Amino acid sequence: MKRTHHCNALRPADAGKSVTLVGWVDTKRDLGGVTFIDLRDREGVTQVVFNPGSNGIQEIAQKLKTESVIEIKGTVRTRTADTTNAKLATGSIEVSAESITVHNHCADLPFPMDDDKADKVNEDLRLEYRFLDLRRPRNLGLLKLRHQAARAIRSELDSQNFIEVETPTLFKSTPEGAREFLVPSRLNPGEFYALSQSPQQYKQMLMVAGVERYYQMARCYRDEDLRADRQPEFTQVDLEMSFIDREDMYALIEGILKRTWKETIGVDIPTPFPRMSYQEAMNRFGIDKPDTRFAMEIQDLTPLFKASNFKVFNVAANTEGSVVRAINAKGLADITQGELTNFETIAKSQGAKGLAFIKCEAGEWKSPITKFFSDEEKAALKKQLNIEDGDIVFFAAAPWEQASTILGRIRLESAGLLKARGRMTLPTNQYNFLWVIEFPLMLWDAEEKRYISAHHPFTAPVVEDEKLLETDPAKVRGQHYDIVLNGVELGGGSIRIHNPAIQKRVFEDILKIPQDVVESRFGYMLKAFSFGAPPHGGIALGFDRVVAMLAGRSSIRDIVAFPKTQSGQDLMAQSPSAVTAKQLRDLRIAVVDEESKPKA
Ligand code: AMO
Ligand code: AMP
Repeated sequence: MKRTHHCNALRPADAGKSVTLVGWVDTKRDLGGVTFIDLRDREGVTQVVFNPGSNGIQEIAQKLKTESVIEIKGTVRTRTADTTNAKLATGSIEVSAESITVHNHCADLPFPMDDDKADKVNEDLRLEYRFLDLRRPRNLGLLKLRHQAARAIRSELDSQNFIEVETPTLFKSTPEGAREFLVPSRLNPGEFYALSQSPQQYKQMLMVAGVERYYQMARCYRDEDLRADRQPEFTQVDLEMSFIDREDMYALIEGILKRTWKETIGVDIPTPFPRMSYQEAMNRFGIDKPDTRFAMEIQDLTPLFKASNFKVFNVAANTEGSVVRAINAKGLADITQGELTNFETIAKSQGAKGLAFIKCEAGEWKSPITKFFSDEEKAALKKQLNIEDGDIVFFAAAPWEQASTILGRIRLESAGLLKARGRMTLPTNQYNFLWVIEFPLMLWDAEEKRYISAHHPFTAPVVEDEKLLETDPAKVRGQHYDIVLNGVELGGGSIRIHNPAIQKRVFEDILKIPQDVVESRFGYMLKAFSFGAPPHGGIALGFDRVVAMLAGRSSIRDIVAFPKTQSGQDLMAQSPSAVTAKQLRDLRIAVVDEESKPKA
């Protein structure tokens, strides 16, 4: 059944050749007694013509449903100028069929296969029939793009002397990260593996082992609440290097991304990427992964309201650590009541009591709070925020981080509404890469009343800040870096602690992890570090997010071959699913609470 050509190969120079093509029936038409089939394979489409009286094969062709699989033999001929199809690469030729083999008929399709129509079909239905959905040229193109991106990344890492090492996905439970998937061990009843959230600890062990430059296209598993940019299993471009500093890491990642953008979508991205501290990102954009394609930056109004008659602002402006901040959502004064309520809900979800605002319409300020403002305050506000007709200004009075976060969310929501109203357009080919650096090493967990790692406990403190570790942990910056693109966190990593004494101090004195717990969870790492650990650091890029950005897709489900839904289900294979009582007995597991199982 060997084909002589794929369906995007034949050109006028091939006229007269006898060929064999295979593929799926893309479309079928009967015209003037002749049957035309557009035959499609992975590479493209070729028109095949069935003439009447050619040993009954036209009758077979006429009965075919689209998406049936056929093989045809025939002769290539050029089309006349008036029948040429300029939209097809093969549009100047057709194949006159001499024989046909039907390899398989196709059942009634659950949705149209035409790319534009199918894109509008309910996603759940498409995921149930993912094998059909993927067969569409647009989706096969996305799989190819993913392959090309992986190839570019591997080529670059290979050229930089990295070696790919596989590490176990059956790891041990380390509960301080994201929620884990547990795997019962039949051979060790009552004991569990955890699926690896990332190869973090193994890759550090590889550095102690002297690998020096490791990478892996690593499958990672996290039992998180899912969103458009989160899958329970996903792929990281995970890497680690010895004897390097942060600058080496920036240069490496810039090189990888530059090559990937060039070799997949042909775009030259300028390097080096700009850098911004966490402090500045929060101050200006209210988020640690700012989308810098548009401004709408947060303004600080704390000094202005120190003597305000509006109590909420006055109190915040005069409280240590608290601020009054605002953004001007230019042109969004026509926000609907529903949209405004949604904004308030967002502010409240971040712990605010409300979301004060000023709408400016027909030269008038409409707001529940302007009655408290003096003329000087109004004039200063107008100037600092450049308030004009059609604008709406949102305020947050709260501790700095909270106020910034609230306005960061409101800024993104406002941009979303402005985009929907056609008042903000972001060019699709604009790629604002950004390093966000100098994150705090520790965050105070008010519930647990202890410091927790901002990223993971292996991140090294910035050297100058090491002396503050015990006295003022909140002020210690970590040698952590995030790579951000258009508001999406593409990846993150850090220079690690390689000194066992400092690592032990971080675990026990700062994070207050009890000594026996440190011993059982991280004992082997501390042991390894005492056997000559090189200075090292690494990073992981979310490969699915990289590909989604290349493809211009907002959901990583689009670029994963078999993604899971928001509720963690594979609708095609129907997993997760119940297992037999015997399986459970073998694993010594009892399901105690059948009723509480969430409905599908
Ligand atoms: P981190 O947890 O930041 O770092 O993960 C690195 C990158 O992986 C991507 N990512 C995800 N992508 C899809 N679905 C998910 N559920 C998901 N979770 C994370 C993001 C993220 O930036 N071991 C460290 C890296 C290091 O320090 O070297 C780590 O895993 O793009
Ligand atoms: P109040 O005087 O408490 O009714 O608040 C007046 C307005 O300020 C309302 O629109 C509230 O939503 C808003 N507001 C209350 N607290 C805050 C805050 N911390 N930051 C911003 N706006 C607030």
